[in-house]
Amino acid sequence: MNTPVFNFTFVPWFRSVAPYIHMHRGKTFVVAIAGEAIAAGKLQNIAQDLALIQSMGVQVVLVHGFRPQVNEQLRAKGHQARYSHGMRITDEVALDCAQEAAGQLRYEIEAAFSQGLPNTPMAGSTVRMISGNFITARPVGVVDGIDFQHSGLVRKVDAAGIRRALDFGAMVLMSPFGFSPTGEAFNLTMEEVATSVAISIQADKLIFLTEVPGIPLDTAHPISEDNPIDTELPLDTAKKLLEALPPAQRPTDTAFYLQHCVKACEGGVERSHILPFAVDGSLLLEVYVHDGIGTMVIDEKLESLREATADDIGGILQLIEPFERDGTLVKRSRTEIERDIGQYTVIEHDGVIFGCAALYPYPEARTAEMAALTVSPQSQSQGDGERILKRIEQRAKASGFESIFVLTTRTMHWFLRRGFQQVNPDWLPEARKRKYNWDRKSQVLVKKL
Ligand SMILES: CC(C)(COP(=O)(O)OP(=O)(O)OC[C@H]1O[C@@H](n2cnc3c(N)ncnc32)[C@H](O)[C@@H]1OP(=O)(O)O)[C@@H](O)C(=O)NCCC(=O)NCCS
Repeated sequence: MNTPVFNFTFVPWFRSVAPYIHMHRGKTFVVAIAGEAIAAGKLQNIAQDLALIQSMGVQVVLVHGFRPQVNEQLRAKGHQARYSHGMRITDEVALDCAQEAAGQLRYEIEAAFSQGLPNTPMAGSTVRMISGNFITARPVGVVDGIDFQHSGLVRKVDAAGIRRALDFGAMVLMSPFGFSPTGEAFNLTMEEVATSVAISIQADKLIFLTEVPGIPLDTAHPISEDNPIDTELPLDTAKKLLEALPPAQRPTDTAFYLQHCVKACEGGVERSHILPFAVDGSLLLEVYVHDGIGTMVIDEKLESLREATADDIGGILQLIEPFERDGTLVKRSRTEIERDIGQYTVIEHDGVIFGCAALYPYPEARTAEMAALTVSPQSQSQGDGERILKRIEQRAKASGFESIFVLTTRTMHWFLRRGFQQVNPDWLPEARKRKYNWDRKSQVLVKKL
């Protein structure tokens, strides 16, 4: 019997996605879409992707922005859009325009999620949307002599109400509006609403779908092939970066979405993402593919993933020693580790080192070796090995290397599952080949960065 060719492509591909589907089931995502995405005609595809994500067991709160739509209404009324401190000044006319824009967008979004024609990705989907007055707002007031009038800030989020709606199986849809106890409406920013909601319901992820593709490795230069997106920013690094950046005025400024991601992570949302809406399916690529596509700010507060110092030498020795004894790792002396301590990354919790890896550069071959990757037996299978690998990849990328490689005798499959490919030992840089132990017969695996 002829086996259709896609049995060889579709089935392994679908299975490769399965771990991510399992991982995200039962989690809560707050997804914020810039009004620009809707103006650019991306709503249909975003709705399809979100319906699919929800059908795989993720609870979704959707927050929409409406900057271009409000500006269009203002233009139609011959009124000028006014901003200050990176925020809209909402006078009576602007408030009217915002309410009209929000009303219209809500219908468009509800309509997009109501589709179900056969032979489309929405066939068979039933997404119920619930909107409501979940946000209490307060006025921004007068800042530096500028009266922001009907522009507001979030005062309180009805987290219990949102949770109930999610538990009912609905997707919660929120516009950037809030109401004061006096019944006044305030125009809020979509970014603040999304961040406050994510913190108050302690969402697992906050995702911004924006006009920027993410944060580049070197923020002083535009994104390019040599300066790609930094796919993972630890919270500490993101905070330092934010301090060094000029305050954001426009949504395209690097600090604009980053400041909200940092705030969310500080508020207990473990992961927050900046994704480009211009890339079709960017949500799916970020959530269900190993390396993702945008920038993720990740909070590693529970245990710290950091570069090693001389104080960690004892801890590292203790950690790797059992694996050296059983032959999983090659023996390293204290002197060697002392000499190379600057190349090590460790995970520490309450002063105990329970994960490590080293990165040895071979600049002449534009590659580097990851060695001594270890997670203590009692902490294995919690994703720490993968987190160390990611950090090592970042360090290698930041040094301009094109790949990293490992030599392993027993852990080949772990690396294969994480994007490494086996190569012949002849591939090794000359200097490393000279040290290759042909008796040990280690397999050589390479990952392109
Ligand atoms: C390899 C190692 C670093 C992974 O650390 P970890 O924190 O457990 O890794 P993660 O939590 O990210 O991944 C765990 C997954 O890898 C799998 N795994 C662990 N060791 C593996 C191996 N040798 N081969 C294939 N898969 C392996 C686990 O079964 C688990 O799979 P699951 O999620 O389906 O349950 C850790 O097992 C270790 O320290 N091993 C001993 C030292 C070693 O072999 N280092 C590599 C030297 S080259």
